[in-house]
Amino acid sequence: MAVVGLLVCAAGPVRADQDLVVKKNCLACHQIDKRKYGPNFKEIAAKYADKKNAVDVLAKKIRQGGTGVWGADVMPPQPQVSAAEARTLATYVLSLK
Ligand code: HEC
Repeated sequence: MAVVGLLVCAAGPVRADQDLVVKKNCLACHQIDKRKYGPNFKEIAAKYADKKNAVDVLAKKIRQGGTGVWGADVMPPQPQVSAAEARTLATYVLSLK
């Protein structure tokens, strides 16, 4: 997949958290810097850059899904993601700003 190739080039070996985004199928709807179905990870990082508790808010949303923040599209719940993994994913997304 092109996104994965780009990550490898940009950041050297794939880190565990980047790997998780692939494994948990997040890239089915998200890309790092382009709109796909959901908002891209860089715009999410920018939006939450100054927010307190951003990791908690995003980790909860990642597991439970939701709608209305970025438009009418719905992010379905992701039960394959554990609470700890959700925090890792949220931290990773926020690091992309
Ligand atoms: C079926 C498509 C789909 C999948 C799969 C998906 N997302 Fe989403 N995601 C969305 C949509 C649509 C939104 C925008 C929701 C909104 O506007 O509230 C979103 C929003 C988000 C947000 C921003 C939340 C907010 O409230 O601003 C984060 C972070 C996120 N997704 C991370 C992930 C991660 C990590 C995964 C993999 C575990 C994932 N998504 C899988 C569709 C998806």
